[in-house]
Amino acid sequence: MSHPNQHVTANPNSPLPIVVAVSGGSGAVYTRRLLQVLANSGHKVHLLLSNAGSQVIQQELGLRLNLNAPDLHAWLGLDSQAASQIHFHQLHDFFTPVASGSYRTAGMVICPCSGGTLSAVAHGTSSNLIHRAAEVHLKERRKLILVPRETPISHVALKNMLAVHEAGAVVMPASPGWYHGVQSLDDLVDFMVARILDQLNIDNDIIRRWGST
Ligand SMILES: Cc1cc2nc3c(=O)[nH]c(=O)nc-3n(C[C@H](O)[C@H](O)[C@H](O)COP(=O)(O)O)c2cc1C
Repeated sequence: MSHPNQHVTANPNSPLPIVVAVSGGSGAVYTRRLLQVLANSGHKVHLLLSNAGSQVIQQELGLRLNLNAPDLHAWLGLDSQAASQIHFHQLHDFFTPVASGSYRTAGMVICPCSGGTLSAVAHGTSSNLIHRAAEVHLKERRKLILVPRETPISHVALKNMLAVHEAGAVVMPASPGWYHGVQSLDDLVDFMVARILDQLNIDNDIIRRWGST
């Protein structure tokens, strides 16, 4: 039993880490930019990567990552200080902190979110660490953001999107707007990343916002 005078601390201002999971949907550029912005702005990130996620990265970025210890410098081009913000966990390591609700986070993003991972989250199958961490975020009523990329969207995927939405997740398809003065592909990537950061309540000015001068 704890003693009434036992020393305890409760720091309401300590920044909580963010979980970023990469599954096998198309859109590796979104993940790379999201991780760069988070790490460079001093946010601690727990990073999870599925096998298919690494295949997409190979296809889209021309980079073959080691699934046990991906080369963050090659992938994200971060300096050592920013890279130290990112903590990578293997896909089946259920001993890792983010597998438990008692480890606190500021939220989780699955970007990109494949149809398979969407289904696993919708049905609570938890067969890998991405599914498990998402399940934890739902049960703890924390922010969970899924960024699917598929078109057209099947009846099955639509039902899965509704299921995760009803369970408390935010479904934000990788569907950038074109109204913020698009000059390059990077502007479209930044649109998605800015909207994800908005959902995480992280101040950012990486795109010109509607209504700003
Ligand atoms: C190059 C490439 C692109 C893919 N693009 C998509 C996609 O946009 N959306 C999707 O749902 N699945 C896509 N897939 C298929 C998924 O990667 C596949 O269904 C995989 O089983 C998902 O596993 P995961 O959810 O564990 O990452 C793609 C696969 C490859 C290799």
